[in-house]
Amino acid sequence: MQSLELFEAIEQNSCQRLGPATMVLRGFAVPYVRELIPCIQVITAISPFRQMVTPGGFTMSVALTNCGALGWTTDRRGYRYTSIDPDTGKPWPSMPKVFAQLANAAATAAGFDNFQPDACLVNRYAPGARLSLHQDKNERDYDEPIVSVSLGMTATFMFGGHERNDPTVKVQLNHGDVMVWGGVDRLRYHGVMPLKDNPHSLLGSQRINFTFRKAG
Ligand code: SIN
Ligand code: FE2
Repeated sequence: MQSLELFEAIEQNSCQRLGPATMVLRGFAVPYVRELIPCIQVITAISPFRQMVTPGGFTMSVALTNCGALGWTTDRRGYRYTSIDPDTGKPWPSMPKVFAQLANAAATAAGFDNFQPDACLVNRYAPGARLSLHQDKNERDYDEPIVSVSLGMTATFMFGGHERNDPTVKVQLNHGDVMVWGGVDRLRYHGVMPLKDNPHSLLGSQRINFTFRKAG
């Protein structure tokens, strides 16, 4: 193996600790990508991507859909999980087995055993899309971690503290990276900087993020 390839191989399998209970698992999802990508089409054929409105009346730049028993939604009345897609009036598409397997394996690698997500939020970022700092607080049980899978274009993720104004660290999330946070880090503020357009070989000018949670 050439030294550059060797370096890339090590990078791929490295993990980075961002907090007492927060890990970035570099390249963890790469072996799953070939199975994951066709699932996006299956999911969005049932529940298409849409831009939702926040309780404050802003249309999100990120387009989203869900799979699993519960799906995260927002409208003028607030944020919540529902078992029915409000746009179709039907249940969200079921969570592909490979999704649950990946989320469970990543959680285990980060030190959280027996993670069984019932919700997978699928976010699609076009160039310029961003997600402002927020806490994930709509789930019932904060003992369960959050598992976030990045595909496509690289994003700059902001990871803050427990107060909105706490300093943030910025971390590049590349295609195949998985970030897991829970425990004492479960309620830390986080967000995504406006996405730069640097087309990805498989997914083009977009970033897809799966966020797995045990919501109900
Ligand atoms: C989220 O916080 O819901 C998504 C984070 C991401 O896109 O990486
Ligand atoms: Fe979040």
